[in-house]
Amino acid sequence: MQFIDLHTQYKRHEETIDKAVKRVLEDGHYIGGREVGELESTLAAFVGRRHAIACANGTDALKIVLMAKGIGPGDAVFTTPFTFFATAEVVGNLGATPVFVDIDEKTYNIDPAKLDEAIGKVKKAGTLVPRAVIPVDLFGQIAAFEAIVPVAEKHGLWLLEDAAQSFGAQRGGRRSCSFGLASTTSFFPAKPLGCYGDGGMIFTDDDELAVLCRSVAVHGKGRDKYDNVRLGLNSRLDTIQAAILLEKFKIFPAELEARDEAARRYSTWLSGKVTTPFIEPGCCSAWAQYCVRSPRRGEMMAALKTEKIPTAVYYPVPLHKVTAFSYLSPVTLPVSEAVAQDIFALPMHPYLEVSEQKKIADVITSC
Ligand SMILES: Cc1ncc(COP(=O)(O)O)c(C=O)c1O
Repeated sequence: MQFIDLHTQYKRHEETIDKAVKRVLEDGHYIGGREVGELESTLAAFVGRRHAIACANGTDALKIVLMAKGIGPGDAVFTTPFTFFATAEVVGNLGATPVFVDIDEKTYNIDPAKLDEAIGKVKKAGTLVPRAVIPVDLFGQIAAFEAIVPVAEKHGLWLLEDAAQSFGAQRGGRRSCSFGLASTTSFFPAKPLGCYGDGGMIFTDDDELAVLCRSVAVHGKGRDKYDNVRLGLNSRLDTIQAAILLEKFKIFPAELEARDEAARRYSTWLSGKVTTPFIEPGCCSAWAQYCVRSPRRGEMMAALKTEKIPTAVYYPVPLHKVTAFSYLSPVTLPVSEAVAQDIFALPMHPYLEVSEQKKIADVITSC
C-alpha cells in the first residue's frame, strides 16, 4: 500500500500528461513558456486573486513575499510551531525572528487568542518590531482567518497565508490562497495539487506587491532582467511542470472529492478509537494529510507496519524545539508539544481503495 499513490494517478492520466510534456519538448520554450502564464491566470481565477506568480517551490514562494516586503533583522514574524520547517526557516534565513504561537487543540492551526497575547508581549518587550503573521493551513484545513485578521489589524501587521498543504480547500465560501495580503502554495508531488518535481506559486490582490514579487523571483529585475534594481533570487517554475499542472488541474476537482470521501470513511470507521480530524463548520479540507491522535500511537503504527501499511508522523518535533531554532529564547507551547506526542498520519490520496481503508481501520480498531 502507498502512503501517497502518485503512480496510479500517473497511469490513469498517462496519455494526456505525456502529450502535455511532449508539446513543451517540441515547442522548445523550456523556461518561461506559454504554459507558465496560462497556469498563473488559471489558478489566480480559481482561487479568486488578481495576481499569481509562479516560482521554484513553496519555500521560495514564502521567501519571495517576505523579501518583497523588506522583512529582515529586528523584525518579528509570528507563526505556528506545528508546521513544516520551511515556514519559519525562511524567516530566519532573512535575519528576522520567528515568534512561535501555540495552536488550537482541535484544528492544530495557530490559535488567534494566543496570537494576540504573543504580539502584545513582543511589543511590550520592545526589542523586535512585530511585522507579519504567517498562519499555516495545516493538513489542508484553512486557518481561522476571520479571527486572525482582526488581531493582525489591531496590531498593524500583515498576513501571509502558507497554503502549501491546502490548495483546493475552502473556508466560508472562500478558497485557499485567497486570505491575507498574500498567499503561497507548493506543487511538491505529494501536495494536493502536485507536479512531477518542484514548484510553487504566490497569490495576491496587491498590484504593487505582485510587481515586487516578480522582480524578486527574477534576480531583482527592473525594466528587464539586466536592469537589476534589488537583490533577488532565481526562482522559476519549469514550463514542463506548468504543463503537467495544467493537465492535473483538470482532474483536481474530482480528486478533491475523492479525498473528501476517503476522509469521511476514515472518520466514520475510526471515531471513538482515535481522535479523528476536526473540520470546522463551513470548511472543506484539501486533505493533504489525514492525521489521527492516540496515546497508543506507537502500538498502532507498529501494527500497521506489520501489515505493510505505511504511516508517518507530522510533526514529531514542534519548531520551537528543533535544533536549528535553539538560538531563540526558549518557550513552552503545551498544545503543540502534546499533539506532537500522539499524532500520526494514515495513507491519504484520491486513489485509495475502500478495501484498503477498511483494512487500515480494522488494524487500528483491533489494537
Ligand atoms: C506548510 C508548508 N510550508 C512550506 C512548504 C515548502 O514547500 P516546498 O517543499 O515546495 O518548498 C511545505 C512543504 O512541505 C509545507 O508543508
